[in-house]
Amino acid sequence: MSARKSGPIENGEERRSPIIKWATRIMVLSLFIAFCGWLDTVKHQWYIFEPSKLHALAQDAIAAHPDDTSAMVHHIVSNLTAEYPSNKIRINPDEREWFFNNAGGAMGGMYIIHTSITEYLIIFGTPLGTEGHTGIHTADDYFHILVGEQWAYAPGSYEKEVYPAGSVHLMPRGVRKQYKMHKGCFALEYARGWIPLMLPFGFSDALTSTLDYMSVYDMVRIAGRELIGNLLIGKI
Ligand SMILES: *[C@@H]1O[C@H](CO)[C@@H](O)[C@H](O)[C@H]1NC(C)=O
Repeated sequence: MSARKSGPIENGEERRSPIIKWATRIMVLSLFIAFCGWLDTVKHQWYIFEPSKLHALAQDAIAAHPDDTSAMVHHIVSNLTAEYPSNKIRINPDEREWFFNNAGGAMGGMYIIHTSITEYLIIFGTPLGTEGHTGIHTADDYFHILVGEQWAYAPGSYEKEVYPAGSVHLMPRGVRKQYKMHKGCFALEYARGWIPLMLPFGFSDALTSTLDYMSVYDMVRIAGRELIGNLLIGKI
């Protein structure tokens, strides 16, 4: 039975017309949608990384250390740490902080270099190769191949797209593909847009298939730490 007691409050509620109640709800919802639309038009002011600079950096790292992936990653992280002041953006310097990520049927290792509300920069890859669905994302995704090749396919084509080391595979917001990290492949992945909305995809396979709670814990702990750390220094 209802725990509500009759009294002046309930009488007041009863007097309010359902039309006014729904009009208020629709107005609040419309304002919220308009606010989100406005945020979407101003989000670029929080971007710090530049795609062309990251591409040059990935190519420099490959040229400097052609047969040493670990040295490439070190080259990239040292460059970013020197390039960007730590009071402006947080770069995670711990190059051993790797964990598994399973999403869209693909599996690989991930090292989060940076993540905030509007940008992330990670190293993703596996020496074994993997294949899956890219997901549908609320961010533009720049996939810089460091080692090996990434292949991609979208329905309607009969040919595969091939992205070798040194190239960038740009996936604009909303674009979906099947992709393969062909044999061994590692990439520097930069996403700009609404990062928190991408997280459910990042957890999808762990929650529905692998049940690898330790990887979920690592991702929540590291992404949370970096995201909050960035917010605290004003990097949205
Ligand atoms: C980092 O790499 C970029 C792109 O190659 C380069 O322009 C820049 O000078 C490098 N910065 C440092 C501090 O090494």
